[in-house]
Amino acid sequence: MTSSGLPPEAGPDGARVVTMLRELAELTSDEAGAQRVAWTGIWQRARAFLREQLQGLPVTVRTDAAGNQWARLPGGGSGVVIIGSHLDSVPDGGWLDGAYGVMCAVEVLRCLAARGPLPCTLALVEWADEEGARFGHSLFGSSAVAGTLNVAEVRELADASGLQLGDVVAEHGVHLDRLDEARQELLGARAYLEAHIEQGPVLEREGLPISAVSGTVGVERHRVIFRGQTAHSGATPMDMRRDAFLAAAATALAVRESAVRHRGVGTVGAARLRPGIVTAVAGETVILVDQRHPDAGALEAMLREAQRASEEAATAEGCSVSWEPVFRTRPQPFADELVDVVREVCAELTGRERVLPSWALHDATPMAGAVPTAMLFTSSAKGISHAREEDTPEEHLRLGVEAFYRTVCRVIELD
Ligand code: GLV
Ligand code: MN
Ligand code: MN
Repeated sequence: MTSSGLPPEAGPDGARVVTMLRELAELTSDEAGAQRVAWTGIWQRARAFLREQLQGLPVTVRTDAAGNQWARLPGGGSGVVIIGSHLDSVPDGGWLDGAYGVMCAVEVLRCLAARGPLPCTLALVEWADEEGARFGHSLFGSSAVAGTLNVAEVRELADASGLQLGDVVAEHGVHLDRLDEARQELLGARAYLEAHIEQGPVLEREGLPISAVSGTVGVERHRVIFRGQTAHSGATPMDMRRDAFLAAAATALAVRESAVRHRGVGTVGAARLRPGIVTAVAGETVILVDQRHPDAGALEAMLREAQRASEEAATAEGCSVSWEPVFRTRPQPFADELVDVVREVCAELTGRERVLPSWALHDATPMAGAVPTAMLFTSSAKGISHAREEDTPEEHLRLGVEAFYRTVCRVIELD
């Protein structure tokens, strides 16, 4: 028996986590990568796979008002420790982003269920639509639970084919008018813990398999619409054009320049030209701009600079420009006392201490505003993610499972 009176632990099986991830990838990917885009049939298949993995465990599985799946392992005392991540992917995505954290949580739940009654309830959550790949709005389910989702703003969002978010989520049983009910899920929540791949190059460069995470950087995401005049590609003299694409292209270069100068990042990851044919000057171009920085002031400066550059570019090309917010979040630090637990566990397992900021967003971002939160990173091969080449050495994935397990045990005060 341990000091808590529970039978000795068997410990987590990292190989089982890797096997589940490979099976999930097999089920939900094609030759271009993972296709688990939220609010699609393939995503639902991934969620059914999760339910299969939970079968036989003493948990109750249900879906909340925002479409998040929960599996609760009831424990004694009061309070709930929440562990999880997301199963949705970007189109042509990788096998580990999100899925790694969910499968780590399954393994921890399985181990702890076998140890007998816990001192508190442990809840696994699989968040709905972390990526925002279809509507541009990240962290749907976790923001709803944390109470930070702006329903009026997301209701109007449309996907590339013009379908509105409100209609699409309703087909999956989520009704925007009832989203507030999802906030009840946090009653009694003591902590939120998430394991994830780094998605960047730092750990690999430093020869580290795992680390703690200090928090997530701030994000400004906008849709920018340039309007000029559609005209014939052959018959329109160069000095008579009002080319909306050229104004957008100049803005994209300014977004990069500003990000480099402020040591942030800025991306124009999507552009749509109208009419989008080679024989017409584009009369309209819509781009999506994503800017990130750990410092709120620097992020604000990057946004203002990009807006100014877009107005200058539009004027120079005889176009108009308008900006619409799609998504924003402030830099979000995690809870020091929990970050320390992850840092200590990682140091035990690697002999080195490291705490990284996350430049990728996570469901931990909104959660950190509502409950004490921390994350664990495992390395990413070549720093590549949101691509089918995404990978992590298997021994790092396994070490991450062990580290996550130890972290959860410490947070629920099992040893
Ligand atoms: C999601 O992966 C994001 O960082 O936006
Ligand atoms: Mn992710
Ligand atoms: Mn992602």
